[in-house]
This record gives sequence, C-alpha cells and structure tokens, in this order.
Amino acid sequence: MQTRRDILRHGSVGLLTLAAAPLLAQAQAQEGSVRRYRLIAQEASRRLLGEDRPETPLWAYNGMLPGPPLQARQGEILEVEVENRLPQPTTVHWHGIRLPLAMDGVPGLSQEPIAPGGRFTYRFTLPDAGTYWYHPHWASSEQVGRGLYGALVVAEATDYAGADREMVWVLSDLRLDAQARIVGGFSNPMDASHGGRLGNTALLNGELARSVALAAGERLRLRLLNTANARIFSLRFQEHNPWLVALDGHPVPPRRLADDEATLLGPGMRADLILDATGKPGERFAVNDIDQDGRGYRLLHLDYAAAAGSSRAGFGGPVRPLPPNPVAEPDLARAERLELSMAGGAMGQIAEASVHGHRMSLRDAFRQHGVAWTFNGQAMPSPERNGLAAQQGSHAGHGAPLFDLKLGRSYILAVRNDTAWPHPLHLHGHAFRLLSRNGRPEPARPFHDTVLIQPGENAELAFVADNPGDWMLHCHILEHQAAGMMAVVRVA
Ligand code: C2O
Ligand code: CU
Repeated sequence: MQTRRDILRHGSVGLLTLAAAPLLAQAQAQEGSVRRYRLIAQEASRRLLGEDRPETPLWAYNGMLPGPPLQARQGEILEVEVENRLPQPTTVHWHGIRLPLAMDGVPGLSQEPIAPGGRFTYRFTLPDAGTYWYHPHWASSEQVGRGLYGALVVAEATDYAGADREMVWVLSDLRLDAQARIVGGFSNPMDASHGGRLGNTALLNGELARSVALAAGERLRLRLLNTANARIFSLRFQEHNPWLVALDGHPVPPRRLADDEATLLGPGMRADLILDATGKPGERFAVNDIDQDGRGYRLLHLDYAAAAGSSRAGFGGPVRPLPPNPVAEPDLARAERLELSMAGGAMGQIAEASVHGHRMSLRDAFRQHGVAWTFNGQAMPSPERNGLAAQQGSHAGHGAPLFDLKLGRSYILAVRNDTAWPHPLHLHGHAFRLLSRNGRPEPARPFHDTVLIQPGENAELAFVADNPGDWMLHCHILEHQAAGMMAVVRVA
C-alpha cells in the first residue's frame, strides 16, 4: 500500500502525482489478479490553514485527506477491507464502477450498514478503465463533509502512452469556522432546500496551499474529481488549452478546449485532461474556478520548474484517444422512453410530495421527513432518518422502485429540471450516454454516470439496463439527496 510519503515524493504540496502508474509494476493487466487495500474510516486531524492556525478535526480514511488513492488495472479484482472506527455506521460506495449490487455500498439496498467497530470486505472486478472515486453512502452529507472520500484510478488494460506523467486532482471544499473546525448542521433546512452545503475553503488534494509544479515540455494527464458535497467547479486554465479525453472515467474523442472554455464538474463528476506544459521554466499560470457570472477565485497556480527531458508522449502533437470501455451500446431505435421530472426546493413550484406512498403537503413532508425535493412527485427520505439499522435487510427505508426496467433492454431517460437549482444526477451500476440537452444533440454523446442538469434544462440519457439489481438514482448534491432527491431503479 502506498504511504503519504510516497505520494509526496514529487515535491508539490500534497499533490498526488503518479508517474505513469508507478504502483502497477506490470504494463499489462493480469486478468483476475487481485489488488488489495485496507481502509479505516477514523477520526483524524490536520493543520489545514497554516502553521499558526489550529488543527481541523476530520473524519478520514487511514487518517489521510483525501483517503489513500486506490490504484488498479482494468480487468483486475479490487479487494478492500473496510474497518469502521467512526462513532456511527458507514458503508463505502465505489462511484462509477459497474459492479454487482452486493458490492455497491448502499445501506438497505445492497448491504447492512457497517456498525461502529465493524468490518466489511468489498471485492469486485473492474470492468472499465478511468477515474473513479469512493465515499460513504450512509449519512453522506456529514461523512463526506467531514473528509471521507478518495480517488480510485483504474489504469487501462495496457498502459496509455499518451502522457509523460499523470496527476490526480481531488477537488473539494470544507465549511470551517474561525477556529478551523468543521461547522456542523449537516443537511440543515437552508442547505437542503437551496444549493447544498457549500464550503468556504476550497481544497486540492486536501491542501489549501495549491501550487502544482510542472516541467516545461511535458505532456500531462490530469485526472480531475469533484468530491465536494455541493460545490460545482468550473475550471479555466490560463494560457493553456488542455484536451478533454474522458468524462466520468469513459473516453471521449479528444477535443481541445477553447480559450475560455471551462471544465465544468458537478459534485461526483470527473474529467481527464491532457495538458501540454507549454510555459517556460520560472513562469506561473493560474487555474481559476469561475462561475457562469464570471465570479470566481484562483484555485491553484501552475508553477514551471525545470524543463523536462524530451517528451515520449507526443508533446505538442495530436492527442491519442483512450481505448473505449466495454459499455453496452443502447439501441436507440428500440429504446423505451422514461420521463423524470425534478421538482421542489426553494423557489420551486410544487406544493405536494408523495412519501412512502402517502401524498402530503411539501410543508408536512419537510417537517416529518426532511423532504424538500421530488422525482416525479415522489420523495425518498434518507434511510438514516428512519432508523434503518432497526429494519436491516428490508427495503422499508427505500420504498417501491420509481422505475422497473427489463434486464438487457435499452432506455432513454428524459430528464426535466423543473427547479431553480442545478442538479448532478447520478445513476449507480451503469453508464449512460448523454444524447441531448434542450433538444440539441450532444456531438460526442459521452458516457457519464453523473450529469449536471441546469435549472429549466432538459436532457436525454440512454443506457442499457444490463446490471441486475435495485440501483440508486439520486442528486449528488448530498444535501438534496438527504432531502428526498433519490429513487430506486430496479433492473430485473
Ligand atoms: Cu457518489 Cu450514490 O453516489
Ligand atoms: Cu440536487
């Protein structure tokens, strides 16, 4: 297993710099070989704001923020023993991995929560290469919001030769008070019904000091992950035009970003970029996080150190596409259409919600069940609230599925955001193609597991329901999820 020291050896503060897959000794997958890790969810503390400031108490995997980067290769088996040393139950969800339901980490649907002091071993094959992550699926707003998240990087079956070096950028934020403590009140009514829990301290790989050292003349693969509870990152690279090569782990035809084109990442989403380090030694460039109104802040600096040796990855030339993942292609001609309307929240138009099959006013739903949002008029209160632990094994916490899908069939999910807020919609166990937004076809029809849908926007998603089970479909703004914005999709 990798230690913090190994990760830091490349010098940049807290930056996960992976030379071309250094932990993966073999350049090729050995089908069926097992990669083992151990994760301990525990209390920890870190001095985040500087030497003269108090430490921040956190919850962190193996005491690290982010948790240890898990690395494996496509086709291998990942085995992770999780130990819960938190004062409350937990689970681990492997965001974006198409795995069997029993390993999906959703309490009440796929497993019992791991009790304090308990352990659970996850073991599954990695069908797809790409950039993924892991996080709890119990009281997610609090557990992720206190620091439980980490990157899961699945290398291509055969080493990708299109980059000299790769870096993982885990983007997140924390809500800290003046004493550098994490502010409580997770999923409070204000956050739940507005834009979620926005932090006040943006972090890159768990650090506030955010200088990234580049060598002039190298070609980098940047794996960007947004693990924040609610913050939408919109990154602009000053005087660099990176190429977009993958979204949510899945390759897209390489496309160079225009001068002012942002890389937009809602919570849960990932993007892989190829960036040519075109600056000169000693130069410094900003990477800014700028919202649609042009307001923003400098997230980090790219600092040019020495010049690199000569690039083996085609610096300055065309970008090599990543090999496709074996995701089933939806049959659009025969796909069945499903409609999903997102509603509720502050400034929303709805007055009622159906909770556990009972219609009630949104006001009562909020008071009794903490519900503020609906999918097709239904809200699923978070199982933690209902003492799921007392009803383990039953699906009582989740209610009937919103959609019953036939195994092997293709579906088009037509989503309408009828709220005043953006929502990153996430489906477990599958990847879907984004076909269109507001009726305009998406040129590359990229695969996603999470798609950001803006207020008033429509989107069409297509996928093959090829993974049997009861899967979560939810907003990845964790406070929206906790406030009812989730549902079960049954594939049988
Ligand atoms: Cu990243 Cu259901 O979660
Ligand atoms: Cu949402």
